[in-house]
Amino acid sequence: MKIGIIIHSRTGHTYSVAQKLKEKLSADGHTVDIQQLRLAGGQDVPGKDSKIENPPDLSGYDRVIFGAPVHAFSLSKVMETYLTQVSSLSGKAVICFVTKGLPFGWTGGNRAIGQMKEICESKWAIVSGTGTVVWNKNHEKQIDDVVKKFRGLLDLKNE
Ligand SMILES: Cc1cc2nc3c(=O)[nH]c(=O)nc-3n(C[C@H](O)[C@H](O)[C@H](O)COP(=O)(O)O)c2cc1C
Repeated sequence: MKIGIIIHSRTGHTYSVAQKLKEKLSADGHTVDIQQLRLAGGQDVPGKDSKIENPPDLSGYDRVIFGAPVHAFSLSKVMETYLTQVSSLSGKAVICFVTKGLPFGWTGGNRAIGQMKEICESKWAIVSGTGTVVWNKNHEKQIDDVVKKFRGLLDLKNE
């Protein structure tokens, strides 16, 4: 399958999860691209009229994985801006994950995943799974668990 991993990553954590996913999914025989979202004009924080400089074309992907950090108890504004601006995800099977710094779902992880699911489903995507990595001393193990879960979700034998 052709898989697009579309991420926003400000300090590199979400990118490192994407890299691990790419490594393992490629070893499973998938063709995997990582595309990092950037705001037009080199902005770091989007305003109300911000645009994504390099919005990925998702049409060539059989599956799409969206990944982003939690910022201020919510989904990062860059990913929110991108997903809101995507025209349609009709019939697209997607997986969503977030990385975050604080423990517990109520410190933004549950809300951010809920936002991603809600926007994707409002554009007629099928959200087949989600994952969260808390960036603490156990983050490597959590990344392994998320990668394992997503490999299972993407396994053709499971379809
Ligand atoms: C401005 C800002 C706000 C943040 N807010 C939260 C938060 O509300 N909850 C949380 O768990 N982590 C929060 N974090 C931590 C990040 O979510 C965490 O470090 C994440 O893994 C960063 O991903 P990245 O390196 O891909 O940007 C925040 C970090 C920044 C820079």
